[in-house]
Amino acid sequence: MALLATGAALTATLLGASGAAQAAPTTAKAPAKAAAPDISLANVKAHLTSLQSIAAANGGNRAHGRSGYKASIDFVKAKLDAAGFTTTVQQFTSSGATGYNLIADWPGGDAGHVLFAGAHLDSVSSGAGINDNGSGSASILETALTVAREGYKPTKHLRFAWWGAEELGMVGSRYYVNNLPAAERSKIDGYLNFDMLASPNAGYFVYDDDKKIEGVFKDFYAARSISTEIETEGDGRSDHAPFKSAGIPVGGLFSGAETRKSAAQAQKWGGTAGQAFDRCYHSSCDSTSNINDKALDTNSDAVAHAVWTLSAGTPTTPGTTFENAADVAIPDGGAAVESPVAVTGIAGKAPAALKAGVDIKHTWRGDVVVDLVGPSGKAYRLKSSSGSDSADNVIDTYTVDASAETANGTWKLRVQDIAAQDSGYLDSWKLTF
Ligand code: TRP
Ligand code: ZN
Ligand code: CA
Repeated sequence: MALLATGAALTATLLGASGAAQAAPTTAKAPAKAAAPDISLANVKAHLTSLQSIAAANGGNRAHGRSGYKASIDFVKAKLDAAGFTTTVQQFTSSGATGYNLIADWPGGDAGHVLFAGAHLDSVSSGAGINDNGSGSASILETALTVAREGYKPTKHLRFAWWGAEELGMVGSRYYVNNLPAAERSKIDGYLNFDMLASPNAGYFVYDDDKKIEGVFKDFYAARSISTEIETEGDGRSDHAPFKSAGIPVGGLFSGAETRKSAAQAQKWGGTAGQAFDRCYHSSCDSTSNINDKALDTNSDAVAHAVWTLSAGTPTTPGTTFENAADVAIPDGGAAVESPVAVTGIAGKAPAALKAGVDIKHTWRGDVVVDLVGPSGKAYRLKSSSGSDSADNVIDTYTVDASAETANGTWKLRVQDIAAQDSGYLDSWKLTF
């Protein structure tokens, strides 16, 4: 389903600068960020059908060391290569058999900041492993293909992986992490794990690890009025574990395995109380008929939402406005008055083209001198006085090179009426970053 655009509401805090009247804070809306695209359920299901066919053609499974596993790797790799990913197959040995991890890098983005999503591609030997873990594998595959189709240019570098031999104890992912030089590990800002996303009697579990990642997932479900629970089955149970052990922030989703759904869970999620989330977990019936389409659709969109949101890495929110709409009287031919605006949540320096919108009601605007005062205390002249400018009001937007200022902090508009007789007041003013 399509993601709704969200806008963070920011509040201009009014500090008690002398001469500034206090009024209720006004709110400003950030513009909509580029939303993650809808992930096609039909496409994800087509990948699952392919994995089912691969199992059928290879003795009924896609397990480590069996021909169905290598055929699964070849299938996913061919799709990614055709879409323009840079793929690497990493080999390892486990239980006397060769295992394979498939790593796919999306060219571009900041190589020093990697957002990583992974899923194990192997099944157990008793079945095709379509929910465990064709579901996670197909979701991240379709997300990766959507990145390519959209020509998405994330701020961060995107990497996807399909792990081998998870069912033997996260062998492939552990091999990858253990063989990653420390300098490369430190570039991974986050690892997202997707293992079982379409359990037939689905629950909606979010890993309780990195708070930022967890929050991104929770926001996604909250926007759809889907309750979530914390995944409590233990950190040891999937491929995020080696990443977490290496100190990398991790997160992920899980729709439930052998545990039975409680009455309370059935109440909020639907499905059947007293029955396992996945009655076919690790058995021969884990086929394409073991898939909950609604869970697969929702969770695939959640994957894309997290990949987009966490790779955008937008430290600043362009177009965020902070306003102080409190009226401030400007003494006639008197001292300067100030009105503050508290800027928060904008990373780094202020823009070189900071917009200052000023609304001053006055009967002789030539009397009025206006300065913007940055958090550093430096004043930027917006408007000088003029003996001949007899028009009313100063209602204008000024562009200020404020790139020497730190964006966050208290900014002030300083207004002075330098000549007697005509007077007025500051109606409102705002800064747009
Ligand atoms: N592949 C995992 C396993 O066989 C599935 C799983 C069970 C899981 N419980 C989990 C994955 C909890 C993540 C979190 O163990
Ligand atoms: Zn699994
Ligand atoms: Ca005056």
